[in-house]
Amino acid sequence: MVRVAVAGGTSPTLGRSIVTAILENGRHDVVILSRKVPDRESAPTEAYGAPIAYVDYSSGPSLTAALQGCQIVISVLKILDPQAMIDTHLALLAACVTAKISRFSPSDWSLGPLSHSQVDLLESRNQLWKSCSELAAEHGIYCADFQNGAFMNYFAQGKKFPNDKEGQAEEAYALGGLKDGMMLKYINLPSQKLIIPLTSDGTPSLITMTLLDDIGKFVAAAIDLPPEQWQGHLSMAGDTFTYEHVYSLMQDQGLVLPHETTTIDQCQTLIDDLDKALTHHFSLETLIEKMVAQMIQVHCRGEIGGGQLQPTLNQLCPEVKSTTIAEYLQRVYRSRT
Ligand SMILES: NC(=O)c1ccc[n+]([C@@H]2O[C@H](COP(=O)([O-])OP(=O)(O)OC[C@H]3O[C@@H](n4cnc5c(N)ncnc54)[C@H](OP(=O)(O)O)[C@@H]3O)[C@@H](O)[C@H]2O)c1
Repeated sequence: MVRVAVAGGTSPTLGRSIVTAILENGRHDVVILSRKVPDRESAPTEAYGAPIAYVDYSSGPSLTAALQGCQIVISVLKILDPQAMIDTHLALLAACVTAKISRFSPSDWSLGPLSHSQVDLLESRNQLWKSCSELAAEHGIYCADFQNGAFMNYFAQGKKFPNDKEGQAEEAYALGGLKDGMMLKYINLPSQKLIIPLTSDGTPSLITMTLLDDIGKFVAAAIDLPPEQWQGHLSMAGDTFTYEHVYSLMQDQGLVLPHETTTIDQCQTLIDDLDKALTHHFSLETLIEKMVAQMIQVHCRGEIGGGQLQPTLNQLCPEVKSTTIAEYLQRVYRSRT
């Protein structure tokens, strides 16, 4: 049995999924690292399924104390300021050295590594990976980050669930804790919206997406890999499909969507417009809209290692059977009888 520290494990999406999957496997132990703030002093430490160690990421001793008895540290931190994201990870990794942690994973959980240089808000992930992997190598710590493509759960965004026990269970499965409406401009099936990304030759692009609950299962399985396999970019592919396929799967469910598409050039026009808007008036909303437009452009390109992911973890952990888009949509959009 190893003890895994999940930094940011309070996150209702990835944190929840990873912590739950490790605990469900029953072979390993988890501690969640969470920022120490005054009103959390008395928070029930079992509220997230695992004990919480409250930490100060700017204090080496605070982090080192929290990591005592752990062997693996996995980060799902999301810090908007790129330098703070890097500095916080380096502080965490420095504490891993002192606490003799053997495996470390900085937060990525995005599209493939090729996407980082094509999406402004992900660009610092290259530096984050470089800084962490170099420091880890210096100290003999195995370092890997995980990519999963976009969360498949975005296909349930906008859906209303009945306010009863069954409805809550359906919502928990469908959304997996996802609350952001980031993709609604492109994917809002209940409002009959689906924009199909096209490659430069006009065919629908292949895109990898993974269900949040399956990401947790892949990560939990990766804990049992030999340490030397915990290295580099460990991508997982829940399913790889075109949005055209989603269109026809929804048709099978009785929902005919208007046929809308987008191309690399159309994305670029939107990105340029958003850039102009940002120059006149900065807003976080516009910045996020630009990030999503850049991600859709990555999807249009359909490159392996960008919008499409290598099924590296699928091959290393064949016991994990991930949910296909057909299974997911069938379960989320089947009508209750
Ligand atoms: N592939 C996709 O479709 C997709 C979608 C969304 C996100 N992501 C990625 O998934 C990862 C996690 O995202 P998320 O949405 O789950 O994150 P989140 O819930 O917003 O944040 C995760 C945790 O980070 C901690 N945190 C936030 N600000 C912090 C700060 N300034 N200093 C230290 N800790 C801080 C919080 O923990 P405490 O408050 O407990 O300390 C929080 O629970 C990120 O790498 C993100 O880019 C991927």
